[in-house]
Amino acid sequence: MADQAFVTLATNDNYARGAMVWGKSLRNHNTSKKLVALIGPQVSEPCQSVLKRIFDEVRVVDVLDSGDTAHLAMMKRPDLGVTFTKLHCWTLTQYSKCVFMDADTLVLSNIDELFDREELSAAPDPGWPDCFNSGVFVFCPSMETYGKLLQYCTEHGSFDGGDQGVLNGFFNNWATADISKHLPFIYNLSSIAIYTYLPAFKQYGGNAKVVHFLGKTKPWSYAFDPKTKQIAGSVQEAATHSTFLLDWWTLYSSAVVPMLQEQYGDQPFHSGCVEFQYSDMVTFQSAQGEGPSALVHAQALESQLSSEERKQKWEQGQADYMGMDSFDNIKKKLDTFLK
Ligand code: UDP
Ligand code: GLC
Ligand code: MN
Repeated sequence: MADQAFVTLATNDNYARGAMVWGKSLRNHNTSKKLVALIGPQVSEPCQSVLKRIFDEVRVVDVLDSGDTAHLAMMKRPDLGVTFTKLHCWTLTQYSKCVFMDADTLVLSNIDELFDREELSAAPDPGWPDCFNSGVFVFCPSMETYGKLLQYCTEHGSFDGGDQGVLNGFFNNWATADISKHLPFIYNLSSIAIYTYLPAFKQYGGNAKVVHFLGKTKPWSYAFDPKTKQIAGSVQEAATHSTFLLDWWTLYSSAVVPMLQEQYGDQPFHSGCVEFQYSDMVTFQSAQGEGPSALVHAQALESQLSSEERKQKWEQGQADYMGMDSFDNIKKKLDTFLK
């Protein structure tokens, strides 16, 4: 339908890359809706050009910043003040209904059925489930609502310094008023939920329709070797993002990087795709000795601990992410659960 759209936001080139992958993932699953990107003026020319090829509409908006360093510090996310910019989505009044999605989400199947829902529908936040997570929500653009939201910001601010605090304050009866406005978690599967409740992930993870790479480390924070399909970077978070991280990089490297390369031409740009050198890798035996030994990009391979020591370390939050608890090994485990 022409008057319904999926909307995302990117204020810089990193989030713009996220937006490109997100847009491609929606197209791959044959959405019949329009795709809209709200962008900040800082997004570079080449990135804007690629966005225009993927999206039906790319709109430059003023960056709104909460400037609320105190609350943002509590989340350890000083960068999230600019998420107030998200509120601009209510000004898209040429559409009667929209679904906003963060640029760090990836669509795994067709989700057009979300347009059957009303404003404000969203999934619970994994950290405080009586709040909704503002990474995926259904809304109806309206200048009146937009005005009220800005007024709410001025009068009450945001309890988390970002848009989620404002929106939960404004739509404050979400938890109790109408269960049809609670989206199933599979529409906003936050990667942190995977390790906080692994058996549930094992049971239901295969039904996920949208994965949300919530948290400080984003898919584009890693590097990837498209030939060997290996991911390098902070292996700690890579493990929690699970196989979805590989899905993101596969789509990014195959469908988005070629478009970026075309736009950048001779200008230098870092796609994040690299060819890992064998000398950068460390070979180690997988924890239970089953399967082939895995290759992990690592600066150091810590000495192999006994499984009891290892369990203790893991429980103390000191997993051996570069070695036995590496992304590759954890991914293998998760894969066996999903099969
Ligand atoms: N965002 C942005 N620029 C920024 C930070 C955030 O454009 O510098 C947008 C982007 O769409 C992002 C959303 O705001 O997905 C929310 O931020 P983020 O996803 O980093 O928050 P999290 O989900 O990790 O709490
Ligand atoms: C959350 C949401 C994100 C939002 C941020 C700031 O964790 O995932 O979409 O921008 O908090 O409120
Ligand atoms: Mn997000």
